[in-house]
Amino acid sequence: MKKISKETVHTDFNDPLAVVHYTRAAHFIGLWESERTLITRFFPDQAGPLLEAGCGAGRATLGLWEMGYRNLTAFDFAEELLDQARSLAIEREAREIRFFQADVTKLTEAQSSALNLQPDGGFAGALFLFNGLMQIPGRENRRMALRELHAVCRPGAPLLFTTHDRDASPAERALWAQEAERWARGEQDARLIEFGDRYFEDKAGRTFMHLPGREEILADLAATGWHYEFDAMRREVARESRAVIEFSDECRFWLARRE
Ligand SMILES: C[S@@+](CC[C@H](N)C(=O)[O-])C[C@H]1O[C@@H](n2cnc3c(N)ncnc32)[C@H](O)[C@@H]1O
Repeated sequence: MKKISKETVHTDFNDPLAVVHYTRAAHFIGLWESERTLITRFFPDQAGPLLEAGCGAGRATLGLWEMGYRNLTAFDFAEELLDQARSLAIEREAREIRFFQADVTKLTEAQSSALNLQPDGGFAGALFLFNGLMQIPGRENRRMALRELHAVCRPGAPLLFTTHDRDASPAERALWAQEAERWARGEQDARLIEFGDRYFEDKAGRTFMHLPGREEILADLAATGWHYEFDAMRREVARESRAVIEFSDECRFWLARRE
């Protein structure tokens, strides 16, 4: 059976089911309360150049614009989602937002070949919200993404991202203990690459997700030039509306700073 690759994820995000799901969220949900709280705390300069990775249909991008951030650059590798983000920006009179298509693991290549959108001295901050980083199959590829974001940001720049959490609750821990036994017996889903991977289907279409342990993220940040500063579960940051909870599971926020 074929292993899940970046191409699988790219196809899944361009699928009409995923496009409708993320476009609806961009139009009707916008930023979560927890995102708004942490963005206000860690990105105090609304004029600084910010980079949003994995912007999808623009849910967070347009949310940032509505909060008053005016120097925004956003990219995604899924062309269909990006088209939706561009349309929404026109509809909301946010034409100054710069969008481009790129794979985050090859970001510097995309920047230097055609776009050259990087501001002098690098971006003042970066965001990779709603678990996008964890939708990159293979730990080395996720580290590559972190290295590429490091390369386009200036020293001290904050990076805000989220992950699911294998250790979040007793129920999760029990589930992953069973999954560990399956891996020990070699009986895991043969399409998966690493322990912690999931590939499932729901209302958003097919989804690949890597669920890390806490130590894994701390090691990946340290290995890629990011200094860990903060992490918290979403429920510890803010109380979310029913619409947000229906749209998205609980997750862990991480804030790191470029060294
Ligand atoms: C869960 S969606 C979140 C979309 C949007 N940020 C939101 O919150 O609605 C994750 C996004 O990451 C993007 N993504 C995944 N892997 C990527 C990669 N290697 N390069 C660029 N974008 C990627 C997907 O196309 C998708 O739009």
